Amino acid sequence: MSRIAYVNGRYTPLRDAQVNVEDRGYQFADGVYEVCEVRGAQLVDAPLHMERLQRSLRELRIRMPMTLAALLVVLNETIRRNRVGDGTVYLQITRGVAHRDHHFPPDSTPPAVVVTARHLDYGSVDALAAKGIAVITVPDERWARVDIKSVSLLPNVLAKQAAHEKGAKEAWLVDREGYVTEGSSTNAWIVNDQGEVITRQVDRAILRGVTRTVLLKLLADRGERLMERAFTVAEARAAREAFVTSASQTVMPVVRIDDWTIGAGKPGKLALALRAAFHRYSDFAGNAKISKEIP
Ligand code: PDD
Repeated sequence: MSRIAYVNGRYTPLRDAQVNVEDRGYQFADGVYEVCEVRGAQLVDAPLHMERLQRSLRELRIRMPMTLAALLVVLNETIRRNRVGDGTVYLQITRGVAHRDHHFPPDSTPPAVVVTARHLDYGSVDALAAKGIAVITVPDERWARVDIKSVSLLPNVLAKQAAHEKGAKEAWLVDREGYVTEGSSTNAWIVNDQGEVITRQVDRAILRGVTRTVLLKLLADRGERLMERAFTVAEARAAREAFVTSASQTVMPVVRIDDWTIGAGKPGKLALALRAAFHRYSDFAGNAKISKEIP
């Protein structure tokens, strides 16, 4: 089956899908994106993703290319045309196509929109979670506004590649004071000796992960002791458990940080319990809600 991409108003076979060389996303990384999980052909936690998308656009002063309801139609249609049951959908919005100049193009320039969807074998993600992953630590060399989900991901790419070259699945980014900010494409969590669950507070130094937000509700319901604060690499090494969260991996246990084994070198009990319970807290109906509420 050929894959289909939505590009600026058209559904096109992926091999023919093209963007203009003067797209500001291509030339300046002047755009934002979202990755949503898809389960049973349904978007997972669509309202939270759409809320974050609108915030990213607002912060960069890129206008919404269409209404939220229309955008959801496009996301769902791309999922349908690609016959994705379980997988992910990728949405990218850039400041559009204009003669190359650093300052913004005229207000009349339409934002450029690309949507793709692909199948993901969640069975193999589950198999990975059953073993747990290794992470490495690298300096956080990103800009000061990583709370905006911009397509400017070069430091993240370099960090992930460094992890890959060391046989690890993720790189944890460490700020100048020695505190972990987050993973290159995930939020970072630890569980300390006292059983406290620790993840960095949301500010401009991390992305407010949708999975993170949903997990906070789950943790509260379980009555876990949560601390939203920065933790050091030393604290992480000494942790009882560690894990990362993201839309495509939900809760992924971490069993190794650099050369340190975490806990017993096996996925932690709490991480596995959170992973098992996670989708009970996801919003599968948000899709319909948004379409009804927003004309
Ligand atoms: N990454 N932190 C960073 C830097 C991220 O890129 C991501 C998501 C997250 C987790 O956010 P969420 O729970 O909303 O997926 C945290 C996506 C999946 C990506 O770039 O592919």
